[in-house]
Amino acid sequence: MALSREENEMLTRVGKGTPGGEMLRRYWHPVGFTNELKNRPVKRRLLGEDLVLFRDDKRRAGLLGLYCTHRGTSLEFGHVEDGGLRCCYHGWLYDVSGKILETPGEPADSTLRHRLCQGAYPTLEFCGLVFAYMGPPDARPVFPMYDTFDVPGLELHPAAQFLLPCNWLQVKDNAMDPVHTSFLHAISSGYHFTAAFGELAELEWQETSYGMIYVATRRVGDFVWVRVCDFMAPNVHQFTREIEEAASERIASRPVVIRWAVPVDDTRTLNFELAQVDPAWGLTPAQIAQPGFGQSAERPYEERQRRPGDYDAQSSQRTIAVHDLEHLASTDRGVIMLRKIVRDGIRAVQAGETPRGLGLKPGETITTSCQDTVLRIPAVGSTPDDRSELRQIGRRVVAGDFRRP
Ligand code: FES
Ligand SMILES: [Fe+2]
Repeated sequence: MALSREENEMLTRVGKGTPGGEMLRRYWHPVGFTNELKNRPVKRRLLGEDLVLFRDDKRRAGLLGLYCTHRGTSLEFGHVEDGGLRCCYHGWLYDVSGKILETPGEPADSTLRHRLCQGAYPTLEFCGLVFAYMGPPDARPVFPMYDTFDVPGLELHPAAQFLLPCNWLQVKDNAMDPVHTSFLHAISSGYHFTAAFGELAELEWQETSYGMIYVATRRVGDFVWVRVCDFMAPNVHQFTREIEEAASERIASRPVVIRWAVPVDDTRTLNFELAQVDPAWGLTPAQIAQPGFGQSAERPYEERQRRPGDYDAQSSQRTIAVHDLEHLASTDRGVIMLRKIVRDGIRAVQAGETPRGLGLKPGETITTSCQDTVLRIPAVGSTPDDRSELRQIGRRVVAGDFRRP
């Protein structure tokens, strides 16, 4: 079931005109946090394109091609003023739509500015994140609203941004690979989260209209803990915060982290997160913006060797994982399904069809499954036969059989 070399290329390349790149361009992607947009432009590379992100003096966010239409000076050295971004070299002024407002060195009757424009992509802002759409204008989709953007009792906040020096697909593979939460995050190198993760889970994966889910059901003492995580095609996933001890009953708990893996180019990936936070936790914005354990290269190398995290596991699969050299096992079923969703999306775009997760109506909310549910069920899970019963409980949780009292 390993991918062929050709499929590997198709799925991992992100540049304009590549099959994978064209599929990715059909979706909205986060490109920066709004609090990065002060009065200086921000240079950004996304999907292999060099861009500049800025906020104009009317508070509009703009995403332009990096190199000035005139003679290519980088607009990262431009000035935010007079309704746009002004190139430092000869003062050409661009608005957020790429329209040239001024070419001040040219004669007053010059029509040059009407005949040219700077490349620009549409943006929108949601909960402290700036999103951009980099695909064909006539295929621009409705921004997807997930039900987890609004969870009673919790507050949605902008959270972490962190870079991985590897291809986006292996970053996303990890999202539907729950077995690693028992090994990497518990059994192999010490507990990263709670001890409950060290229990091996019964695993189940299901396709959804927007992507897929995994259902990891664990026996923890007298309790059964069902952890459900979503993958939203093509590069988003959400998971519950890794704080579950599975020591008391809890139904459909949803302090989720929603994470977009945005390709910088073929060999780098920028993760952006929004997080649902309980105000009772008393976290500061800086604490919320802190990447989780082991998500970045900031720890000393020897410490990362002794206690590796997701950053080390994902980025060390080679810069672009060679999927045709893999030997996929039964626990990789979610990875296989995820890649098929990505591949089907590429083929849909090639065939002129709408890939999964698009085609929503304005105002429509996507109902997702991500949750922790903990049930006191002492009798189950003690014998091998009970493992299938565990899986059954996981399915029933996804089906909504257990409700809050
Ligand atoms: S290069 Fe930008 S105005 Fe001349
Ligand atoms: Fe992980």
